[in-house]
Amino acid sequence: MKIGIDEMRFATTPYYLSMTDLAHARGEDPNKYLIGIGQEKQAVVPPTQDIVTLGAQAAAKLPADKLKRVRTIIVATESGVDNSKASAMYIKHLLKLDDNIRVIELKEACYAATAGLQFAKGMVTLEPQTYVLVIAADIARYGLNTPGEVTQGAGAVAMLVAANPHVMTIEPGAVSYSQDLMDFWRPLYATEAMVDGKYSTNVYIDFFQHTYQRYLQQTGLSLEDFTALIFHLPFTKMGKKALESLLGDRDDQVAKRLRDQLKAEQVDCRSVGNLYTGSLYLGLMSLIQHGSVAAGDRIGLFSYGSGAEGEFYTGILQPDFHDHVEQLDGPLNARQQVTVAEYEDMFNQQLGMKPEDIEFDLTKDHSRFLLAGQRDHQRQYVDRDN
Ligand code: HMG
Repeated sequence: MKIGIDEMRFATTPYYLSMTDLAHARGEDPNKYLIGIGQEKQAVVPPTQDIVTLGAQAAAKLPADKLKRVRTIIVATESGVDNSKASAMYIKHLLKLDDNIRVIELKEACYAATAGLQFAKGMVTLEPQTYVLVIAADIARYGLNTPGEVTQGAGAVAMLVAANPHVMTIEPGAVSYSQDLMDFWRPLYATEAMVDGKYSTNVYIDFFQHTYQRYLQQTGLSLEDFTALIFHLPFTKMGKKALESLLGDRDDQVAKRLRDQLKAEQVDCRSVGNLYTGSLYLGLMSLIQHGSVAAGDRIGLFSYGSGAEGEFYTGILQPDFHDHVEQLDGPLNARQQVTVAEYEDMFNQQLGMKPEDIEFDLTKDHSRFLLAGQRDHQRQYVDRDN
């Protein structure tokens, strides 16, 4: 039985910051951010958005008849809003889905969405008539004036996993690799990530090489068998570093094709920033929209989460894949640009770990789902359509 991704939708915040403006404010050459890091815009998170609202925003765009058949919701995130309650519970409520649904949250840095997809594949194998909703939702937050600041971002990718999927089947033979490392982490008392930046980029490449080479040994496939290789993109240059670690001096047709496809993956990531769990899957949506891909093509996907875990797996695009993946140019172009001062103001307004009652101003954020504030230590969510 073929199982895989049946539908893909995306949501981000209504605001973005230009990386040229950020570079000027931080006293850096804009080309360091635009070329050296490879980021052009970054999603800016107002206090009225969190991973619950972003996840609900993305999932609400899925076809209603398919949402009704969802029997499990998996939210993969490292920006959870509660140490006990799964964000999937809030999202199920906001989407008004049936109570006869299993909900759960998964965590292993940026890797968790891939685990979610593999678990979902197992669930659909057992119950082929059901759909599993996997939501990768995160807010990448490093702190003002830190080297990681340029790599911030936010958003959610909602994916339905089903039998006979419309977008991409997930092939067997994935290679996972994990080691207890401290390249990036966020202690329970911190709202911003801690990171050993250069080390993290080296670990990423090592894990890519290890999982990819092992995958080739296991399957007998070679580089020529991939129409595209796509990567978790904490910033778009990272994907280039990983691909070049494989291609080296190669300049033939295969190398040229893979470089072009990576550029297609990078388009949307370049204007949103790091989504943590969702980045690889925003990359897949971007490849489908901007790349040169056709039904039957094999895509290689490298998923990486700090701490650290990597997985290389492959998928085959299905006949009408294009019609089941949201086109993102419209939503991304509809966002409003903010100044560095406005961004810093929103950064400091986040609910974060504040224990007090708060009511946010809802008049500026026109998103459907909103975080209205906090009362008696309980987050208050609003659905504008109800
Ligand atoms: P940095 O030290 O400020 O930057 O931070 P740099 O000095 O290394 O410069 C970056 C690049 O810009 C360099 O190119 C420079 O040469 C170039 P590279 O050598 O890397 O090819 N550059 C210029 N290019 C053109 N014109 C110029 C110019 N000036 C310099 N004028 C760092 C960079 C990535 C370390 C920092 O942003 C950081 O710490 N980011 C966060 C950590 C991160 O994203 N790590 C990636 C791997 S770990 C991962 O992916 C997991 C993660 O998503 C979390 C999770 O799993 O949950 C992060």
